[in-house]
Amino acid sequence: MTAATGPDAVTTRRGDRRRRTPWLKRFLPRTLFGRSLLIIVTPVILAQAVATWIFYDRHWDTVTNRLAFAVAGDIATSIAMLERDPSPDGRDWALATTARTTDLIVTLEPDQVLPDKKRAPSGLLERTLAKALEERVARPFAINTRVAHEWYEIRVQMPNGVLSVMSPERRLFSPTSYIFILWMVGSAIVLFAVAILFMRNQIRPIKRLAIAADALGKGRDVSNFKMEGATEVRQAASAFLLMRERIQRQITQRTEMLAGVSHDLRTPLTRMKLALDMIDAPDLDPEVEELKADVAEMEMMIEGYLAFARGEGTEAVQPTDLTRLLNEVAAGARRDGTEVTLTAPAGLTMLARPNAMRRCIANLLVNAGRHAGTAWVQAERRNGVIEIVIDDDGPGIPAKLREDVFKPFFRVDSSRNLDTGGSGLGLTIARDVARGHGGDITLDDSPYGGLRVVIRLPE
Ligand SMILES: Nc1ncnc2c1ncn2[C@@H]1O[C@H](COP(=O)(O)OP(=O)(O)OP(=O)(O)O)[C@@H](O)[C@H]1O
Ligand SMILES: [Mg+2]
Repeated sequence: MTAATGPDAVTTRRGDRRRRTPWLKRFLPRTLFGRSLLIIVTPVILAQAVATWIFYDRHWDTVTNRLAFAVAGDIATSIAMLERDPSPDGRDWALATTARTTDLIVTLEPDQVLPDKKRAPSGLLERTLAKALEERVARPFAINTRVAHEWYEIRVQMPNGVLSVMSPERRLFSPTSYIFILWMVGSAIVLFAVAILFMRNQIRPIKRLAIAADALGKGRDVSNFKMEGATEVRQAASAFLLMRERIQRQITQRTEMLAGVSHDLRTPLTRMKLALDMIDAPDLDPEVEELKADVAEMEMMIEGYLAFARGEGTEAVQPTDLTRLLNEVAAGARRDGTEVTLTAPAGLTMLARPNAMRRCIANLLVNAGRHAGTAWVQAERRNGVIEIVIDDDGPGIPAKLREDVFKPFFRVDSSRNLDTGGSGLGLTIARDVARGHGGDITLDDSPYGGLRVVIRLPE
């Protein structure tokens, strides 16, 4: 390829490939197992096909030719002996000699005439035999393949009758071809079986890695994952394990820092509160009250931080009955004065961190209680996903703010929530929990007029 045409050619070829891929993909197996088998088996089948073709073209052709000419030669010899001495004695001698020296059965049918109409020879064997007879015997003849099982009859026109020659099939037909085909098919089957066994073992570690990565994404325990398989798979597995460690380290670090900071801030805050209580200056009252309110807000934020930090890391994933958990949280919300209608099928279980999950749903119900007063909770399992929908009849959240409310400390227009008194961490924590389980939380309009919160969790 020259430099001038190079880039162009590459571009067109790429374009072609892009167009062709979907077509090709439809015919290619989807799994790695299927593809590897295809890669191993295709060249073998091609090689076998070429070998078979060469075998038939050369070996099989040559052998058949030689066998046919040998039989035709025997017949020609027999005819020559018959013609040398046509007397009954001579004829008997010729037939007896043929029977003795060859394995052909030769009989003479006097005064018979071969029919004029000749059947066209069918098949390679018959064609070859006809050619040999034309060359060696040079008389009208007919071949009958259906005279008996494993026998061929060759009838030759003689001046005074028809010579019938019965030839056993083995004199015309080489059984090597059967053996050859059997060998081909047999070796292909053996190769196929070995390939399947080997590929299975090679692909198992890749599958395990995929399952472990999936489990990690869902926040599940993958500590029993072991490295195994070929070097490349081990490399991927080791990178995966390192990644898992890094993620865990980061989570722990964040949690510990949050917990530490919150904890350390509590002490000076308590001191400030005490000091404020001690101030006895009536002319400063409004300022003191403001300071007290600020300190109270700071305390609440710190409580929020601590709640956030507590939800992380330590809790183990375990089979959790979501229906029961939802009932408990709903009962709690009802005690706080929220009207809750819960619809959930019995036995909705999944692998989850129960306390984190409880906090997630409780936060959402607290929001509904604060902003609306009535909440509708529905849970169901759909296509391998557990969906929990929480509706309320409050003011809702404007569509353009539905991502922002998940940010820490973000609160919608404080004039609206004058005394709702939250810290703005509720939705942040709820989404964190859902994502920690491999799911997510989204917001929408509720048919009840307020906000709809949808939690989706993989099973
Ligand atoms: N059901 C709801 N209806 C209307 N607005 C809501 C609803 N839930 C949340 N919001 C709005 O989203 C904001 C963020 O909610 P989030 O739960 O994160 O914080 P918060 O409720 O203010 O405080 P916290 O939950 O930490 O006590 C809230 O301030 C509120 O304005
Ligand atoms: Mg809240």
